[in-house]
This record gives sequence, structure tokens and C-alpha cells, in this order.
Amino acid sequence: MSVLRVLTGITTTGTPHLGNYVGAIRPAVAASLQPGTESFYFLADYHALIKCEDPLRIQRSTLEIAASWLAAGLDPERVFFYRQSDIPEIPELTWFLSCVTGKGLLNRAHAYKAAVDKNNAAGLEADHEVTAGLFMYPVLMAADILMFKSHRIPVGRDQVQNIEVERDMAASFNHLYGEHFVLPEAAIEAQVATLPGLDGRKMSKSYDNTIPLFAPREVLRKLIMGILTDSRAPGEPKDTEGSALFQIYQAFATPEETEGLRRAYADGIAWGEAKQLVFERIDRELSPMRQRYEALMADPARIEATLRRGAERARAIATPFMAELRRAVGLRSLAPTQQTAPSGKESAAAGAPSVGPLPTFKQYREADGRFYFKLVDARGTLLLQSVGFASGKEAGEWVKRLKTEGAQALAAAHPHLDAQAADPQNPAVAEALQQLRAAADAG
Ligand code: TRP
Repeated sequence: MSVLRVLTGITTTGTPHLGNYVGAIRPAVAASLQPGTESFYFLADYHALIKCEDPLRIQRSTLEIAASWLAAGLDPERVFFYRQSDIPEIPELTWFLSCVTGKGLLNRAHAYKAAVDKNNAAGLEADHEVTAGLFMYPVLMAADILMFKSHRIPVGRDQVQNIEVERDMAASFNHLYGEHFVLPEAAIEAQVATLPGLDGRKMSKSYDNTIPLFAPREVLRKLIMGILTDSRAPGEPKDTEGSALFQIYQAFATPEETEGLRRAYADGIAWGEAKQLVFERIDRELSPMRQRYEALMADPARIEATLRRGAERARAIATPFMAELRRAVGLRSLAPTQQTAPSGKESAAAGAPSVGPLPTFKQYREADGRFYFKLVDARGTLLLQSVGFASGKEAGEWVKRLKTEGAQALAAAHPHLDAQAADPQNPAVAEALQQLRAAADAG
């Protein structure tokens, strides 16, 4: 396994601002272009429901965030870019994980604990206005991460503890049911500084000090002109230390350009002039993206289609994996064909694993001269039926792919399957393919 899987979620409650761009969007787009990585970026709209009860705001934010990431250069065919709520396997996995997660572990998770501490300090009941959603937040996040076997999770410092809690959940599940999950690690980008906002504090929606990423040019100019500075007059040397304006410039400028502004500060540049310079520099980087953003925002149906396509690709991974997990925990078909090698605790208890009767692929030629294959279970029930191929070799190659890649190859094989004869979406198909793979792995 040489591909590094990177995954991160963006909660859909606000409008992207310059701080989000510098701290998350820009580094994520750059990371997605690194060879040897596979990136999963998704709109965490189930998470949004925890903090936001305004439906229009959630819809609007989803659109703005998707348009911003695409405008900033994210290639939705290269990465997995999807909306969490388009993946029904995520809430299902959340439940599986809930059942292996100690409640005490969640009591200690920081978002919940912070709410309780605040209530205690205010003399209120510990759980005052705390929803079960807030309490379960780390479990939903674990499902996001574990579903795609992600290794590296770029997050802010405040999320590091969550990732640790989520590792614990993965380990508990693996211990009980076999090695299904990869244990994720948090990655904090050391060199991405947090951007100060208009008032010099960290740029954040909760301080109401943000500069929207794709504000129209004139609005951007006005906002930059409003960045808090001291009252030193033109000609007086200015301090770069603690200057929000300087730090914002630095996040966009080259080291040489930054050096130039440092000298200008020392030489007593007027604040108005410095702000104009900062505005021009930022606008130079943003203006081509802003044009793409505006075009995207004018065509929400296109964004919708992009996200659906992303979800389809993500589900090509999630659906078969969920079938594997359902089987692992014992949510299984009762028909004898569905018996599988026991795993984890079960095999320890049962001694030597015993494999049930296996499904089989059959290849044959019809009177029409074409070549076919089908998959039947041990009782002869038809699970997959191919269309006719001109060559036997081609039919054989598909059989081989389905055998070696399992249900992951189903999406690719789809055009060659006769869905009328047998439904490839039937969960029994994914189960049968996993069963064949498990048997091949075992011997
Ligand atoms: N909780 C994250 C935040 O508020 C968003 C998020 C949801 C996330 N699921 C995730 C981040 C999975 C990383 C991985 O920023």
C-alpha cells in the first residue's frame, strides 16, 4: 500500500474567508496535486446540523464552500470531492462505531467537555442545552475518516484530540471484529500560520472580523482599508511585529515582497499606502479565482452534478466496505451461501475458520457466438450476468478483475453487466465477491 490517503471535512455553516483560504483551502489544493496521495475532501453537512438550525444557511454555505474549493483549483476528478449527506453508509458506520465506543471516552471529548465546563461555571445543569449530536460528534467524524481508510487528517490543533479518540474507536472495532480499519493520524501543518482578522485577533466567524474570500473587488478594498493599525503618522517608522496588515500580506507575498514591505514599514510608509499595496497583492492572487467563483455560483446545478459524481465515486468504495463491515459484525444474510470465514473474536472462539460453500464464476459461449460469464451462489442462484463479449479473453479479464478487486470493480464492470437478468446492486453480490476474495487470500 503505497498511496497516502488524506482526508478532511469542511463544516457547512459559513462563508469561506481569507483565513480559511490560507489555512485550509490553499494547502489542501496544493497537497492534492502531490503524486502518491489520494485526497478526500468533503462537505461535512451532517456535522453542520450540530451547530446550525438554519436550513437556508446550510444550503447556502454548502454551495459557497463547494464553489470556493473548485474555484481555488480543486480538480474533482483527481480528488474525491463529495457531500457527507450523499453517503448513507456514513450514518450506518456511525452506529457501528457508537456500539464499540465507551461513553466515558466521549465524556472527555473536548467540544462536549467545554460545553459542560461552561454550564458548570454558570451554575447550570451540566448538560444544559447539550444535544446528543454534540456528544456524538467525534463518532460521526470517526465514521468519515475510517470509511475511507485515511491515513492522514489535516486539521487544526483543536481537532487533534478528536483524531486520537477516533483512533481508539478504530482499534476497539479491529480488536473485536478483525483488522478492518486503518488507524488515522492528525497532521498539523506547522508552517501555515493562522491569519489575523480585521481587529488583529485570529480571523474567525465567531469574532465577526473576517474578510470574505470572494468579496467583490471594491468590497475587498474597503475591508482591507479597515484593518486595525496604530495611529503612527506618515513618515514615522512602523512596527511589523503585531501588525495584522503585515501578517496578512505575508500570507500572500513572496519572501522578497515581504522583505520589501518590511523596509517600507521601517521607512515610514503611510498606512493608507501600505493598505493599498496589500490590497493589490491579494487581489492579484484572488481575481482569477473570483471570476471562476462567480461563474460557478451562477450555475448551482453544475455544482450539484459535480458533488453527485463525487459521491458516486466515494460510494464505489463505501458500499462494498460497508458490506464487509456488516458481515463482520454479524448483520448477514441467513442463506447458507452467505457464510463467511469468521474474523476477530469470532475466529478465536470458534477455532479453525470454516468457509461456507463458495459462489462461482462460470464462463461460456452462447449460440450467438458471443462469450459470457455469470456469477452464481452455491445454490445456483444467479448473482451477476454479463452481456455478450466478442472475445472470450475479454470476458475472462472481467472475471479476473471481479475476483481480485472484489466489489470495488463493480462500478467499472457495470456497462458489461445485464442488470435486468441480475441486479449488480444486490448486496449479496458484494458479499459473494468479498467471500471469494477472502477464500483466495486464505489459500
Ligand atoms: N470537525 C471538523 C471541523 O469542525 C470537520 C470534520 C468533520 C472533519 N469530519 C471530519 C475534519 C473528518 C477532518 C476529518 O473542522
